[in-house]
Amino acid sequence: MPVILGIESSCDETSASVCVDGEILSNVIANQTIHEAYGGVVPELASRVHQQNIVPAVQQALLNAKVSKNDIDAVAFTRGPGLLGSLLVGVSFAKAFALAKSLPLIDINHMQAHILAHFIGDHKPVFPFLCLTVSGGHTQIVLVNDYFEMQVIGQTLDDAAGEAMDKTSKILGLPYPGGPLIDKYARQGNPDAYKFPEPQIPGLDFSFSGLKTAILYFIRDNVAKNPDFISHNLPDICASVERRIATILLNKLQKAAQIHGIKQIALAGGVSANTGLREGLKELCAKNGWESFIPKMEYCTDNAAMIAIAGYYKYLKGEFAGQEIAPLARMIM
Ligand code: KG4
Ligand code: ZN
Repeated sequence: MPVILGIESSCDETSASVCVDGEILSNVIANQTIHEAYGGVVPELASRVHQQNIVPAVQQALLNAKVSKNDIDAVAFTRGPGLLGSLLVGVSFAKAFALAKSLPLIDINHMQAHILAHFIGDHKPVFPFLCLTVSGGHTQIVLVNDYFEMQVIGQTLDDAAGEAMDKTSKILGLPYPGGPLIDKYARQGNPDAYKFPEPQIPGLDFSFSGLKTAILYFIRDNVAKNPDFISHNLPDICASVERRIATILLNKLQKAAQIHGIKQIALAGGVSANTGLREGLKELCAKNGWESFIPKMEYCTDNAAMIAIAGYYKYLKGEFAGQEIAPLARMIM
């Protein structure tokens, strides 16, 4: 019954989790509100807040799981990709903890962990399956052949889907992070009110920078005619943008499933919390007779439970890291 402590600190969430024999017993997430004032994550501030939060987060995770630090068998941590200073805090903590307790270390790729979050709980996909991983920094269609055998078959050529959400919200004058607010306003709006362009990118790749520019010009032109355009039409604008982002993502996902003949389709990453995208995937799968895998809300945005579960599977494989390991801001699958 391996007991794994998981640590996540790649961006602006400090998180710790305890996984016992593949079951998540705690998942503590300390959010950083300091960035709201700046309209985006400030890397230097993020590192400092991680330093303040990491010890209390781990203490709380152990307490919630009713596990003592002497019960831990291995420490899993996010090695990358992410903000280097933020990663350094989690990696240094994990190394110090492992050294003090003579425990093995397990390095985890954050993007793989988002996908492996589907192995928390009972509704687990069967290999091979497809996963659309959509976060603030990544947009990928991944062919998942095994726990750590993943192939990116489509990705964004410029902005990520979450970035498109966040930049739209900035254009609309909403605070950061904008994705959850676009989701909130979209629920009261008409998704067919405005038509935004669908980029014509060959194959399974994505592009969101043209859409961002189209939204920017659309808002600028309408506000020039009517200064109250945004406040009078916010729900319809949000619903229409959300619909377009979701259809761009789902059209490519459908194409990927057809090309690879795969009938198990998963969503992962922060944007998988989006209501329109979740409902859209369910409809797409129902229409095609495919099975959809949609993570619970607490496992969509960054969390250490996904690091702990990924750590559990690596522990079973006997793959450990040494004390010389360093974080990586960029990391491929
Ligand atoms: O995976 P994540 O927590 O962090 C990264 O690894 O980047 O993803 C964060 C992204 C942000 O762009 C945020 O706006 C977006 O996920 N997001 C959402 C929603 N919740 C978070 N986008 C749309 N609708 C949501 N409900
Ligand atoms: Zn993430």
